[in-house]
Amino acid sequence: MIGVFDSGFGGLTILGEFLKTLPNYDYFYLGDSARTPYGNKSQEVIYTYTRQAVNFLFNKGCVLIILACNTASTKALRKIQQEWLPVNYPNGRVLGVVIPLAEAAVESTRYGRIGVIGTQATIDSRVYEEELGKLGAGLKVHGQACPLLVPLVEEGWVGKPESNMILKKYLFRVKRKMIDTLILGCTHYGFLSKDIARIMGKNCRVLNGPETISRKLADYLIRHPEIEVRIPQNKTVTYCTTDDPDRFRIFGEKFLNQNIPSVEKIVMDPQRKA
Ligand code: DGL
Repeated sequence: MIGVFDSGFGGLTILGEFLKTLPNYDYFYLGDSARTPYGNKSQEVIYTYTRQAVNFLFNKGCVLIILACNTASTKALRKIQQEWLPVNYPNGRVLGVVIPLAEAAVESTRYGRIGVIGTQATIDSRVYEEELGKLGAGLKVHGQACPLLVPLVEEGWVGKPESNMILKKYLFRVKRKMIDTLILGCTHYGFLSKDIARIMGKNCRVLNGPETISRKLADYLIRHPEIEVRIPQNKTVTYCTTDDPDRFRIFGEKFLNQNIPSVEKIVMDPQRKA
């Protein structure tokens, strides 16, 4: 199976794109809704939660896990890949969303001026700056934390005048830097992309995260046939949450844009050493 992990519902936008473009594989989605948001938590906490989730998904039989959550990708992925994975699941793979988005930004930029918006944890990590720095010399990268956007999206306040006011306040700070490409460095921001694109104006390209990540996953699977052959192709999708499964189904269908037939509730045991 391909595991898709997010701190809550947001990663369903990415799973939705996988199901469209890579529909034959078996998927296992885990949303840690009981402990969301991750975006305002410390590195240590984000690492522990993410490691527990990844351990759970490998135990369920996942071969490859995508950390759909930007916050987990920026704060936990490197340590998981370098320290935890080689000891615990040397044949498993865990990938994040930062490198695919950074690569897409470099492909898109005309003048080398790239903006990134994300949660406080993602922007504070400066991982986007680091990865973009490896991909192109002389790029100017401007990060902006937008901590109010996740709750606005979760409350369904997309398109409301109050939300647009907040959005403008955040975006004007990156717009002032004359960026020509904007990375939406948070799973939830895709819901605001029309308003974001309007506010940024026609001189700035706003990248489509799910589409980019899905394209890069397809590419990864072609380049890694040894992983690809181990992923069953029965078109099954399993959904798990750490919180109320009914609420997950109702909210999740909006994020996924299709029906979720059933959701299993799981308990992530913080006492157990993952
Ligand atoms: N999924 C998170 C991300 O992409 C946003 C929600 C959270 O703060 O947990 O950064």
